[in-house]
Amino acid sequence: MDCQENCRLADKYRVNLSYPEINIQEPNEKAAKLLLNDYAGHVSEFGAIAQYIFHMITLEKEYPDVSDALRGIAIVEMDHLDRLGDLIKELGTLPEFKGCEHGKVTYWNATPKNVNYSTSVKKALLADISAEIKAIEQYEEHIKQIDDDRIISLLQRIILDEQIHIEILTSLYKKYTD
Ligand SMILES: [Fe+2]
Ligand SMILES: [Fe+2]
Repeated sequence: MDCQENCRLADKYRVNLSYPEINIQEPNEKAAKLLLNDYAGHVSEFGAIAQYIFHMITLEKEYPDVSDALRGIAIVEMDHLDRLGDLIKELGTLPEFKGCEHGKVTYWNATPKNVNYSTSVKKALLADISAEIKAIEQYEEHIKQIDDDRIISLLQRIILDEQIHIEILTSLYKKYTD
């Protein structure tokens, strides 16, 4: 699959609204630390990509429609990761794959704490929906704590995509539980 195909595929799995172009060139360690959690913390874009790819591969044969949707959603999450990483860098912090909670820095790892390894379609989709809900809650919490409207506008735009992901995953879940 070439790059253009990936972009076309991803457009089915995100809101048809451009992302705010923000160009911040001033250090803001407090915001960068919060954003690291969204980028590669316990609940994060990096973790979402890993989980979607695992579910995409393991469900591919039996549930090709679910697998295709997870591929498209994972591409959107990679775009979110890219945008958060750029922003963290602009805020003066290296975008390493780690989170920072309660003052403790933890590098992201692929243990079951961070990735749901379920191979049942129902359990996998439930875990994916739950992760999207937690991601939105975390973005909303960070919006309250960040006092830069440019950063807030990006997080609000990302939330719109996560809401679409919940809708898509929920309809697939219903398809295989009804
Ligand atoms: Fe995302
Ligand atoms: Fe998402």
